[in-house]
Amino acid sequence: MLQSLGYLGFHTANLDDWSGYGSRFLGMQLAERSQSSLCFRMDDRKQRILIHGEADRRPIFGWEADNAMAVEALGANLERAATKVVRMDKALAGQRHVTGGITFEDPGGNRLEVVYGSEVAPDPFKPGRAHSGFKTGPLGLGHIVLNTTNMDADVAFYTEVLGFELSDYVTKPFRAMFFYINSRHHSLALIEWPKRGIHHLMIEMYSLDDVGQGYDLALREEGRVATTLGRHSNDFMTSFYSNSPSGFLVESGWGGRTIDTANWQAFEVVEGPSLWGHERNWISAEGRELAAQMRMKAARDNVRAPVQVTPGNFAIASGECPWWENVKRAAE
Ligand SMILES: [Fe+2]
Repeated sequence: MLQSLGYLGFHTANLDDWSGYGSRFLGMQLAERSQSSLCFRMDDRKQRILIHGEADRRPIFGWEADNAMAVEALGANLERAATKVVRMDKALAGQRHVTGGITFEDPGGNRLEVVYGSEVAPDPFKPGRAHSGFKTGPLGLGHIVLNTTNMDADVAFYTEVLGFELSDYVTKPFRAMFFYINSRHHSLALIEWPKRGIHHLMIEMYSLDDVGQGYDLALREEGRVATTLGRHSNDFMTSFYSNSPSGFLVESGWGGRTIDTANWQAFEVVEGPSLWGHERNWISAEGRELAAQMRMKAARDNVRAPVQVTPGNFAIASGECPWWENVKRAAE
């Protein structure tokens, strides 16, 4: 039913902070700026991230469906589940640069929009800092992770009504569930937490160096890094997290895996959320210690995963080493 994460809207008290953070640090293109809003591009689309400084502080989560029929079918599902659905009028569809869509709320009161026919910009994407591009297309703009106080109600809504599928889940050092709608390992995740809100947005970059160069920029700013460089155990993303001017985190990542959605089986990831790194300044000291113990156990247990590459962002080195070839053969 749903195809991908299309666009997101966030509130900020300070548009100037977001304008520099979004463009010069994250590398998006500041495409439009008004008195009360900013609009960023990440690719060929007219808009991906909207920032508003007005009184309505609720974020907007824009999901894409194939066409008008798919949107209508989803609207009917929502109404059967007693969710109030509002059709987008022309003015709102115009603001979102889409042909049409619907708006509704999830059980936590988040504003969701499902749209079709997103407009492509006539001019090429110009990154706000030099980098090799964001990985979007059929995978969507990235993934979004929400903190929830009612995991069961949210899981039921997102899976049974909206059609998200469970990728996998972790129970320690916090409880989190990951969901896919396309071959990106997850487009949505939910973390059980005492307070609702956005946990993070992940944007994926084409080259590992794009992420490392962003990390260098983050290290030069006091308090910018929220989670150190590390690698996730489930989607294999190598990433770090920065504090955004809206209070939530943004994960800049490289090398996320794609999954075979036709044959995927959900399971519990017992190694914890990260294979190495990802020291989280947003969890308790006990949680950090537990996470560190889990990472060191994963290392001792030889938990390793190949890097996930895309044509054009890697080269195979000749790497001939008779000693290593023998070790490999002996292990086979
Ligand atoms: Fe993430």
